[in-house]
This record gives sequence, structure tokens and C-alpha cells, in this order.
Amino acid sequence: MKIGLLGFGTVGSAFYALARECDQTEIARLLVLEKLPQVACEQTTDYADIVNDPAIDTVVELIGGLHPAYEFVTAALKAGKNVVTANKQLVCACYDELIALAEQNGVALRCTAAAGGGIPWLHSLARLTPCDRITAVSGIMNGTTNYILSAMTDQGTDYADNLREAQRLGYAEADPTADVEGYDARRKLVLSANIAFGVSIREEEVPCFGISGITAQDIAAFKRLGLVCKLIAHAELTVKGVAACVEPVLFPVSGQMAHVNGPDNLISLKAQRVGVQSFAGAGAGGFPTASNVLADCLEIMDGCAPFYVRERKPLSVQNDGLRQRYYVRTADGTDSRLLTVREAHALAATYKNNQQPFFMAAVAEE
Ligand SMILES: NC(=O)c1ccc[n+]([C@@H]2O[C@H](COP(=O)([O-])OP(=O)(O)OC[C@H]3O[C@@H](n4cnc5c(N)ncnc54)[C@H](OP(=O)(O)O)[C@@H]3O)[C@@H](O)[C@H]2O)c1
Repeated sequence: MKIGLLGFGTVGSAFYALARECDQTEIARLLVLEKLPQVACEQTTDYADIVNDPAIDTVVELIGGLHPAYEFVTAALKAGKNVVTANKQLVCACYDELIALAEQNGVALRCTAAAGGGIPWLHSLARLTPCDRITAVSGIMNGTTNYILSAMTDQGTDYADNLREAQRLGYAEADPTADVEGYDARRKLVLSANIAFGVSIREEEVPCFGISGITAQDIAAFKRLGLVCKLIAHAELTVKGVAACVEPVLFPVSGQMAHVNGPDNLISLKAQRVGVQSFAGAGAGGFPTASNVLADCLEIMDGCAPFYVRERKPLSVQNDGLRQRYYVRTADGTDSRLLTVREAHALAATYKNNQQPFFMAAVAEE
């Protein structure tokens, strides 16, 4: 496989190293913003050199963000090149369009590293769909928030201190909004649900409540109740369509979820025949993520289908049926309320719009 590699950052540089060690892949050209003296392969700052090169059969996009990644990926698919990407933001935002382009042009689109980093999660979902009916996908899909929540629980320290430490360790970006507000987990959830259920739900439809409002006092209150807080992305098939949300959830201290610490992920699927299957491991990091990118390339070489699944039913997100108990903290104190997911997120939105202090967490059923 002759690869045009876009980007030489955390994942791109790790992928470059792995692809050079693999005897089935060759980095034919590398797209960079400025040429890098330490890199031996042919480099360009002009994407036209890659997309117009007939010798390149696969573009590996590892620059991230929506633009120019969108223009590069669509041009590659239209030029009859396979695309492998780890870009959850792009694939989530342009899900139907990118898959349709891959199908129309008889090429493959893979994005296994976009959800779960180094965990072959999307690949495993796709592998199961022809043999079983997956009814739920759920779990800790964001390592940054799990690191912050674990540290707050272990040390009793504040949110802001632990966010700063996560940034120092490279777990959180300078602008941590996508992680701490749950948008990153939501993108991974949407990709997971779309592949698992053969649907096409949209990111904006999934309510999302992150951890930026959590305090050391909340964590201390959870501890007294024998509970541990995790940011959970959850989607399930219902009679009405798909129920889905991202929100903090409280788990018993003795349970499996409470023991997923630091930046790790734990993601599960529930299917009618195989029951519950869980996948744990490094949800991010250069080499784990790059290893999934390389595995996608090798899968394409084996002659895979254009995308993981063919079906893309445009179902809507309906959160009325899912009723659960919530811990709610406002300026007036804390209480426990039985709410539907829709009601809970509407309440959170009201407090946010009024810029009033608020935190909520669902209490997991035992
Ligand atoms: N890091 C992880 O653990 C991880 C895990 C799962 C998925 N991902 C996904 O993998 C992708 C890459 O992430 P990353 O962490 O490797 O990001 P990164 O370290 O910021 O690397 C991106 C690289 O692309 C370069 N770049 C930006 N625009 C470019 C352009 N137009 N042409 C050529 N190069 C360009 C950047 O250069 P400058 O730095 O000079 O701007 C940077 O070196 C993202 O979609 C991310 O969501 C990352």
C-alpha cells in the first residue's frame, strides 16, 4: 500500500514509525506545514502533490479538525483513494456524505482510531453486526475526564488543579472544552451508535452534560454514599428510535466502572445473543492510536467493504423513555430526583443559560 500521510503530530509521527516497520506499507509522501529535516521520506506542503499522485492508493489523514481535513478527505475519495482517519470530529459531522463518497468511488473509508484510540472498538462493533443485534453501547469514552475525575476522587483536590495537571501531562489540550464538556465523548458515541445500530444519528441531537461544574464537595458527598463519578456516553435502541446522552454517572465503589482509573477507557456493547462485551485500554496516545490506524490500512489491503456497515437509517434521538435517579446540586443545596434524561438535560440547560451553579449526575442502577 502506497500512503499519502497528512500530518506529523502525536499520531502522525507514531504512524510514520509503525508504517515504516511494516513491510506491506510505504509512506510515499508526507504533507506538512513546513518541511521537517529529521524525516527521511518525500515531503510536500501542497496537498495537490498527494491527491494527484496516481501511485498513492491511500490517504491517511491525521491533521484533525474540520478544515482543511474535510477538503482533503473528500478530494481523496473523489480521486479514487482509500481514506483512513482518526478524526472523530470530521467523520461524525459528515458521516453520510463521506460514506456515500466512498461507496460511489469504490474505495474504503476507515476510522477505527476515532473512537477508543488504541482499542479496536468500532472494528469489533462492525464485526458483530452481521451475526447479532447490538442494542446498547456505553462507557467511559474520554480519557481526559476520566483522569480528572479519578484524581479528584483519589486526592480530594479541586477540578481546576486536576485540569491543569492533565494539561501538563498532555492528557488535556490547551483548550479543554471538547473533553470536559463531553463533546469528544459524544462524537465517539455517535460513531459507535451509528455503526452498532446501522443508523445515522446527528451529534447535535444527543444531549451532553460535562464535568466542568463538578467540585471537590460533590466528590466528597459521593464518597460518603459509597459512589464514584464517571463521565459516561450511552446509547441504546428503544421502541421509538435511539436514546442517547453523555452525562456524569455515579457507580458503586465496589463495581468495575469505579476501578477504571487515569486516562483509560472502558466501553461495552450489549447484544441479543452475545450479551455484554467490554473493551478496556488506552483510549488515546500516539502509538496505541497509530496502531489502530495501521490495522485499518491492513484491513483495506485485505479487500474490505467501503465502510464498516451499509445501513444508515436516519433515526431521531428520543430520551423520554429513560427515567433514572439524579443527584442534583444547585445553590440551594443537593437533592435526589427521578427524571427522564430529557428532563434532566433540560434542567441543566436552564441553569446554564441563567449562569447559576449546577451539577448533576445520574445514579447507575445496580
Ligand atoms: N492524540 C491522540 O491520542 C488521539 C487519539 C485518537 C484520535 N486522535 C485524532 O487523531 C488526529 C490527530 O491528532 P494528534 O493528537 O496527532 O494531533 P496533533 O498532535 O495536533 O497533530 C496534528 C498535526 O497536523 C499538522 N497539521 C495541521 N494542519 C495541517 C495541514 N494543513 N497540513 C499538514 N499538516 C497539518 C499539525 O501541525 P502544527 O502542530 O504545526 O499545527 C500537527 O503536527 C485528530 O483527528 C485526533 O482527534 C488523536
